[in-house]
Amino acid sequence: MKFKVKVGDVLSEPVDALIVGICEKSRELSPIAQEINRLLGGVIDRVLKRKGFTGKSEQVEVINSGGVIPAAYIFLCGLGKEEKIGPEQIRQAIGKVSLRARDMGLKTLATTTSVYSYKSGGNSSDEVARAIAEGAGLAVYKFSKYKVKENNNAKYIDEFRLVEDSRIKAAEVEKGLSTGRIISESVNFARDLINHPANDMTPAILADTAKKMAKGNRIKCTILSTPGIKQLGMGAFLGVAKGSQEPPKFIILEYKGGKRGEKPIVIVGKSITFDSGGISLKPAEGMGRMKYDMSGGAITVAVLRAASMLHIPLNIVGLLPATENMPGGTASRPGDILRSMSGRTIEIISTDAEGRLALADALFYATRYKPKCILDIATLTGACAIALGNHAIGMLGNDKGLKERMAKAAEYVWERVWEMPLWDDYFEQIKSPVADMKNSGGREGGVMTAAIFLSKFIEDYPWVHLDIASVEWNDKERPYIPVGGTAIGARLLIQFLMDFSKRD
Ligand code: BES
Ligand code: MN
Ligand code: ZN
Repeated sequence: MKFKVKVGDVLSEPVDALIVGICEKSRELSPIAQEINRLLGGVIDRVLKRKGFTGKSEQVEVINSGGVIPAAYIFLCGLGKEEKIGPEQIRQAIGKVSLRARDMGLKTLATTTSVYSYKSGGNSSDEVARAIAEGAGLAVYKFSKYKVKENNNAKYIDEFRLVEDSRIKAAEVEKGLSTGRIISESVNFARDLINHPANDMTPAILADTAKKMAKGNRIKCTILSTPGIKQLGMGAFLGVAKGSQEPPKFIILEYKGGKRGEKPIVIVGKSITFDSGGISLKPAEGMGRMKYDMSGGAITVAVLRAASMLHIPLNIVGLLPATENMPGGTASRPGDILRSMSGRTIEIISTDAEGRLALADALFYATRYKPKCILDIATLTGACAIALGNHAIGMLGNDKGLKERMAKAAEYVWERVWEMPLWDDYFEQIKSPVADMKNSGGREGGVMTAAIFLSKFIEDYPWVHLDIASVEWNDKERPYIPVGGTAIGARLLIQFLMDFSKRD
C-alpha cells in the first residue's frame, strides 16, 4: 500500500472509496460530510436516523455514491465521542475501514485530515496523518508467506491518498504520513519475524535478518557466535543455548544518530527463538506459540530500523541474546549452577526460566556502554499474562522519571503499561543456599521475582523492564491488530525515543 498526499478537493478524487469519519451523536457534521450529505440528497442524515450506524467507534457504513461524485463508494466510519477523538480513535476507525475495503477488493482509497480534527482541536493535521498511516498500515498486515494457494489471489489495497485543501497543510500531512508509514512498516517487519515458525527463524536466521536491516540503514551490526560469547564469559546465556543444536548468536546493533561520544540508550530484547522449557519441559498444549519468545528481539530490531529512518537524534544500541531453549542431551539441568558474565552465580531451579538467564548477560553487557539508560523488553513470565490479561504491558524499573516517560509514551501510542513493584523484599524468594541467587522464585509474584533477578545485572544504571508476555500474541482480530504476533511494544519504544530526543 502506497500513501500519497495531494492538494485539491477530496470530493472530486476518482478513487474506489472515499472515507469520512463521523462522530458519535454529533449535532453537526464536518464540512466535508455536510457536502456529501447535500450532494447525495441527505444520505448521511438517513443513515444516522436508521440507528444502525451512530458514529460509535468500530462502526462502518458503506454507501454507493451512484456516480454523484467520482468515488464509487463512501465509507462512513465511527470515531466515537467527539471530545475523545485522538490518535487511537483514528487508528481504530481507519484500521477497520481499510480491512473492509480490502475485503471488498477495492484498490484506491482517499480521505482528508480535516474530517478527523475539525472540532476536537487537540489533533494537528500531521498527528492525524500519522494515525491514519499507522491505522491503515497496521490493519492490512497479513502473514501469508506459507499460504501458497491463498497468495495467488490475495486482495490488497494499492493506494491511500490524503487530499488536503492547502499546500501548507499538505506539507504537514506529508510529514505525519511519512512518520506513520515508517512506524507501521517497522512494526510489520517485527510481526513478520515473530510469526515465522521457529524452524525458519533460528538464531542464525534472526542474526542474518538483523544484519540485512542494518546494512540498508546506516546501523553497525556485530554478530558474536559461540567462541565470542564464551570469551565474554556469558555463562548464563550459554547455559540456555547448550541444550540446542542451533548455535546461539549475540547480536549487537549500533545506531549513531546522536552526537559523537554521546552516551547511548541500550535496548535489550529477549530473543528465544523457541522456548520448549528445556529439561523442565513445557506441557505439549500450546507449545507451538513459544516461537513468539523472540518478540522482544524482533521489536528491538524494528525499533532500531525506525530510529534510523526517522533520524532520531540519539545514539541507540540494540542487544539480542538469541538462542533456542531445548532439552538436548547437553542441556543444562535443574540444580546446575551457572556463572554469569557479571561473576554472579545462578542456581537453576527451572530450565524454563531461561529468559532471565539470557537477559542477565545481555543486561550486564549493556553496562559496558555506560548508557544513559537501559530498557529491556521480554516475553518473560506467564505470570504477567495472568495478572494483566491482554491489555497492558508489565512495567518495572528503578528510575521514577524514566518510568513516567515510558507511561506517557504508552498512553499516546495506546500500548499501555502498568507498573508493578520492584521491591527488594521480592529478592528473598530467589535467594539460593548454594549460589548467589536462583532463577525461579516459584509461582507467587512471578513478574516481580523475575524483574528483581534482572535488576542484579544492571549495576544501578537507570533501567526500565517491560514484560510483554501478556500482549504479544493476539487470538482475536482487533481493528488494527491482526491475529498472531502483535509486536506491541515497538511503537511504545519508538515513541519513547522520539520524546526522549526532544527533551534531552
Ligand atoms: N517464555 C516464557 C513466558 C511465557 C509463559 C509467556 C507462558 C507466555 C505464556 C518464559 O520463558 C517462562 O517459561 N517463564 C516461566 C517462569 C517460571 C518457570 C519461573 C513461567 O512464566 O512459567
Ligand atoms: Mn521459558
Ligand atoms: Zn521464555
